[in-house]
Amino acid sequence: MKNIGEGPYYLAQGGEVALFEHAARHCLPVLVKGPTGCGKTRFIQYMAHRLSRELYTVACHDDLTAADLVGRHLISGDGTFWQDGPLTRSVREGAICYLDEVIEARKDTTVVLHPLADDRRILPLERTGEMLEAGENFMLVVSYNPGYQNILKGMKPSTRQRFVGISLDYPAPDIEAQVVETEGQVDKLLARRIVDLGQALRRLEQHDLEEAASTRLLIYAARLISSGLDPMQACQACMVEPLTDDVKTADALRQIIDIHFGHT
Ligand SMILES: Nc1ncnc2c1ncn2[C@@H]1O[C@H](COP(=O)(O)OP(=O)(O)OP(=O)(O)O)[C@@H](O)[C@H]1O
Ligand SMILES: [Mg+2]
Repeated sequence: MKNIGEGPYYLAQGGEVALFEHAARHCLPVLVKGPTGCGKTRFIQYMAHRLSRELYTVACHDDLTAADLVGRHLISGDGTFWQDGPLTRSVREGAICYLDEVIEARKDTTVVLHPLADDRRILPLERTGEMLEAGENFMLVVSYNPGYQNILKGMKPSTRQRFVGISLDYPAPDIEAQVVETEGQVDKLLARRIVDLGQALRRLEQHDLEEAASTRLLIYAARLISSGLDPMQACQACMVEPLTDDVKTADALRQIIDIHFGHT
C-alpha cells in the first residue's frame, strides 16, 4: 500500500507513537497487541506514513506457508522464475512488513522470522541460495489479539522475545470521542453519546460476550446515524447483532442502548 498526501488519520492513545519510533530507530521488531477494532492496523499504517516507508501487509492464517512469506519458483512459458514473497520484498526494498494476526500462522512459518528478528537481521533464501541482509529501513511488525489466543497456537517464547511489545486497547473516552467524531463524521455531542453508550456496553463484557463493542463498531453506528438512520436501529445493528446471537445477552445490550438513545 502506498501512502500518499496527508496520510492515515490516527489519534494516539498514549506513548505508542514515540515507542514505535524508538524501536524503528534501533531496527527492533515490534509486536502490537489489542482487541479487535481498537486501532492496531490504523496505527501501523500511520507509522509507516510517518516514517515514510512502504508497508506490506500479510493477513496470517493457518495455511500460510513459509513460501507465502519468502517467495517461490513459478512456472512460465520460458521455464521457472523466482518470485519474492512480501517478507523478501520488504527486506530488499527497506519497507515495513506487517504480519496481521500472526498467532494464526503455524509455528514452522514463524521460524523464518527468527534470523530477521534478532540482531543478525538476515533472511536466508534457501531456494535461490541468497542471503539477504536487512537494511536499516526494513522493519518487522506483527499484531495479534490476545483475547483469541489459544494455548496451542500461542507464539513460542523464542519468537515473542524477539519483539518490542506495544499494547493497545480501546482509547480513553475523550480520545475515542474525537476518533468517533472524525471517522464517523458526527458532531461532538453525538460522538460523546455514542462513546458513553460504548462504555456502558463494555461494562457488560462479562455477560457472555466474547469481546466488547469496538471503536470500529462505534464508528459504524455514528456513520449510520449521521446518514439519517434511526439511532436505536443503528445502535442495534452495530452494537448488538455483531456481538451476540444469545437472546438474553442481546436483550441486556438493547436495554442499555434504550437508556442512552431510547428517547431521541
Ligand atoms: N486511535 C485511532 N485513531 C484513528 N482512528 C482509529 C483509532 N482507533 C480506531 N480507529 C478507527 O477504528 C477502525 C478500526 O481500527 P483498526 O482496523 O485499526 O483495528 P484493529 O485493531 O486492526 O482491529 P482487528 O484486530 O479487528 O484487525 C479504524 O478503521 C479507524 O477508523
Ligand atoms: Mg487489523
